[in-house]
Amino acid sequence: MSDIKKRKIILDCDPGHDDAVAIMMAASNPGIELLGVTIVSGNQTVEKTSLNGLKVLQWIGKGDIPCFQGCSRPMIREKLNAGDIHGETGLDGPVFPPLTLKIQEKHAVNFIIDTLMESDGDITMVTTGPMTNLGMALRMKPEIADKIQEIVLMGGAYTNGNVTPAAEFNIIADADAAYVCFTCGRPIRMMGLDITRKVLCTPDIVERMRQVGTIASDLFVDLMGHFCKTQYEIFGWAGGPLHDPCTIAYLINPDVIKSKYVNATIDIRSTESYGRTNCDMFDYMKKPKNCHVAYDIDADMFWDIVERELARYPKSEK
Ligand code: RIB
Ligand code: CA
Repeated sequence: MSDIKKRKIILDCDPGHDDAVAIMMAASNPGIELLGVTIVSGNQTVEKTSLNGLKVLQWIGKGDIPCFQGCSRPMIREKLNAGDIHGETGLDGPVFPPLTLKIQEKHAVNFIIDTLMESDGDITMVTTGPMTNLGMALRMKPEIADKIQEIVLMGGAYTNGNVTPAAEFNIIADADAAYVCFTCGRPIRMMGLDITRKVLCTPDIVERMRQVGTIASDLFVDLMGHFCKTQYEIFGWAGGPLHDPCTIAYLINPDVIKSKYVNATIDIRSTESYGRTNCDMFDYMKKPKNCHVAYDIDADMFWDIVERELARYPKSEK
């Protein structure tokens, strides 16, 4: 396994229950080198999401992976949080031990810029929260664009949103940053609600993961206890859509999703449709293509991937 070239990634996120599972999967897979976790305001304030990133890394014993606090609000618009889904802490449900890990001194945007500029252009930017940190990095140092191998994001939808009928949370929370990222000229892979709503963490999935019996599966079960409850209360879902891990599952096995290469733009002009990802799935406009939009996911394969990654961790002492 040592001679397989690892995929280097920076995971920019707003933990967040589903972000936490994405962190666990990225930190465990032998084919991924998680260079750092950068945190953004989103599901909760950046102070809370930063603490949550540290809590998860400490819980899984990955304190060697640096965690950086990033932007506290969108580039232009007012802050939008999702405490209704993720709770007051942003990671309600699990009980964590006293936190000993510390956030890095360097700002997340500076870590992104420095790491990309020092690289050979072989780093994938994975974003599972509002794209503020990457958008700011691209504006501060446009040269980083050529150093980004691919942007893999959880965000958007070519069908309905989940904040407005038009817009999904990660995009509408900072549509201006998303616009900067979607127009940076680098390959983009978009995992929108269209596929994440096909991987609902139903009670039978929770029970399946409970049987894995590791410290990671223990946390998964505690996370889903809260996440699935609020998703049911707000959306009536039978289980919480496991949005963010779709990005990591794709990195682990690209065959888990089906994508179409299309022109995708971010609506930052209109009112009712502000924050929409306009994906020209039928190429009506004949505009230049810029984004691989995921339109299907193999749910069985996805849950097998999740289970396998949770199983890589030490056995639970429960
Ligand atoms: O719309 C779902 C996205 O918004 C997920 O990334 C979730 O964590 C929240 O950030
Ligand atoms: Ca998220």
